[in-house]
Amino acid sequence: MSRIAYVNGAYVPHDMAFVHIDDRGYQFADGVYEVVSVIGGKMIDEEPHLDRLWRSMGELRMTEPVTRSALKLISKQLVQKNRLKNALLYIQVSRGVAKRDHAFPQGDLRSSLVMTCRRFDFGAVRERAKTGIKVSSQPDIRWGRCDIKATALLPNVLAKQAAKEAGAFEAILVDADGNVTEGSSTSVWMVDKNGTLVTRPLKDNILPGITRATLIELAEKHQIRIEERAFSIEEAKASEEMFLTSATSCAMPIVELDGSAISNGKPGSVATKLVELYWDFAGK
Ligand code: PDD
Repeated sequence: MSRIAYVNGAYVPHDMAFVHIDDRGYQFADGVYEVVSVIGGKMIDEEPHLDRLWRSMGELRMTEPVTRSALKLISKQLVQKNRLKNALLYIQVSRGVAKRDHAFPQGDLRSSLVMTCRRFDFGAVRERAKTGIKVSSQPDIRWGRCDIKATALLPNVLAKQAAKEAGAFEAILVDADGNVTEGSSTSVWMVDKNGTLVTRPLKDNILPGITRATLIELAEKHQIRIEERAFSIEEAKASEEMFLTSATSCAMPIVELDGSAISNGKPGSVATKLVELYWDFAGK
């Protein structure tokens, strides 16, 4: 069965799914997006992903391409049309098609909506969480509004590529003060010497991770101490445990940073507990 995509009002074969070359998403990365996991046929955290999409569109003063309820219907239909149970759903909205000019086009521009979904092996993600992953720290050279989930992802792509070339799964971004910000596409956590879960506060210019928020809720519910504060890459290296979160990695222990083992180089007990809690929450 061939893949089906949704492009500006029509379901089309994936191979025939095109946007106009003057689309501002293509020209300027003037767009926003969300990635929603579908696990066992269930959209995970759909509402907060849509909250964030609407917030991102609002921050960039984009018009909504369809209503929120229409978007939910399209999401459901797209997953059904592709006959998927475990998938990643990508929702991309750009400011629309306009004559090329850096400033926002004048008047009301119809924004573009592209949605795709593809099969995704969450079993492999869960399996990987048993051994954990290696990571590599990279300088954070991204733009200054990391709170907006924008598609201007080139710096992230470069950091991730550098991490990959260093034999790591993810890049851990470090700011000018030597503090960890987040991953190239993930939120970063550590467990400090006192056993407290630590992650950078949202006010310090990071993406408000949806999985991060879910994990905070889960940790609080299970009386795991949390502190939202800045932490340095050195503190992270010497920490008891590290892990990351995102819609695609769920909760994922980190066992190595820049070639050095975190603790004994195995997923720690707090991270392992949080992986379990996450999977209970996701219902698998
Ligand atoms: N990335 N930080 C950044 C920079 C991200 O791009 C992401 C998500 C996260 C985690 O957010 P969430 O828990 O809402 O997925 C943090 C998605 C998965 C991606 O770009 O593929």
